[in-house]
Amino acid sequence: MITCFLKEKERNQYFVSQKSYLQKAIAALDDFWIHSGMIKAWCTEGIEQIDKFAALHRVNLTEWGEGEISEKTKKYTQWAETMRLAFFQYSRFTEKKYARSEALYSTLVSLAATWHQGMPEKIIIPGCGPGRSVLDFARIYKNSQVEGLDYSFLALLLADRIVCSDKRTALLRRDVYSEDDISAKYLVEGFSLSNAEFGISNLITCEIPECDLLVCSNTVNLLPNHEAAVRKIADAVRSDGTVIFADLIGWRLDRPQAQRRLNSDASMKELFEMFGFQTLDLFSGVPYIEAESDDQETCYKEHFYVGRKR
Ligand SMILES: C[S@@+](CC[C@H](N)C(=O)[O-])C[C@H]1O[C@@H](n2cnc3c(N)ncnc32)[C@H](O)[C@@H]1O
Repeated sequence: MITCFLKEKERNQYFVSQKSYLQKAIAALDDFWIHSGMIKAWCTEGIEQIDKFAALHRVNLTEWGEGEISEKTKKYTQWAETMRLAFFQYSRFTEKKYARSEALYSTLVSLAATWHQGMPEKIIIPGCGPGRSVLDFARIYKNSQVEGLDYSFLALLLADRIVCSDKRTALLRRDVYSEDDISAKYLVEGFSLSNAEFGISNLITCEIPECDLLVCSNTVNLLPNHEAAVRKIADAVRSDGTVIFADLIGWRLDRPQAQRRLNSDASMKELFEMFGFQTLDLFSGVPYIEAESDDQETCYKEHFYVGRKR
C-alpha cells in the first residue's frame, strides 16, 4: 500500500509534475528499443495510480502548486535512475544473482540485530527507493510495521509491487545509458509481505512519523541541508529507539556548505549526539559498488553510525 504524506500545498505540484514527467517519458521512448514496452507499461501504471491519488486527495491535476525540491531529488524520479537503483538493490534476487550490493544491506540488518533492544513496533526507512531495506527488515521483524518513505513515485510503485505483492516484476540492469544497447531484463518474484507499507514523502518538507527503529542509507547526502535532515531523523526516533545510518560522506566538494556538514566520521557523530543520540557504533569501509557494466565498477566507501535516542 502507498500513502501520501505530502503537505496539502505540495500535493498539486507533486502529482502534476510526476504525471507530466511520466507522460513525457512515454512520448520520448523509442519503440525500436527492445525494452521500451516494459518502461512504458511502468509509466502508464504510474499515471493511472497518480489519477487515483489525485481523486482521493481532491488534487486538481490542471493546476500547479508549491513545493521545494532539489535537483538531486528530481534525478531520482527519472525512470532510468529508478531502474538502476532497483537492479542494484535486488540483483541477488533476480536470475542474475549478483551480490555486489549485499555488503551495505546486510550490514544495516546486522547492526539492527546487534544494537536494537527489544522488538520494534514501528520501523521507518526514509529514502527507501525501490524498497530493498524495507524488504529485509519486514522479513526479519515479522511482528513490526515497516514503512519506507521516498519522493520517487516510480520507485515506490516498484517497491510496493516487489515487497507487498506476489507478482513477478521485471527489472532492467543498468546499462541503459550505454550507446550500445546491452540492457537486459531480469525478473524478481514478489514477496507478499503484509507488514510493509510505503509513503510518498519529501524529506525536505515533511516530518518523519514516530518510530522505534529508523534505518537510513545513502539519502541524507542528497538533501540540501544535512543538519536539518539529521534533526528530522532524531525527532522521529522515540526515546530508547535506535538509528542505523549509512552514507557516503564528504565526497563532493562542489556541493554547497550545508550539504557538506556530514564530511567525516567525527562530524557524523557530533551531529547525531547534538540531536540527542548516544553513540553505539561508528565505522567506515564497507564498499558501495555501483556496476556500470560487467567490466566496469564504481566503488565508494560507506560510513556507518548507530545511536540510541536518550
Ligand atoms: C541513493 S538512493 C538510496 C536508496 C536506498 N536508501 C539505498 O540505500 O539503496 C536515494 C533515495 O533518496 C530518495 N530521495 C532523494 N531526495 C528525497 C527527498 N527530498 N525526499 C524523499 N526521498 C528522497 C531518492 O528518490 C532515492 O530513492
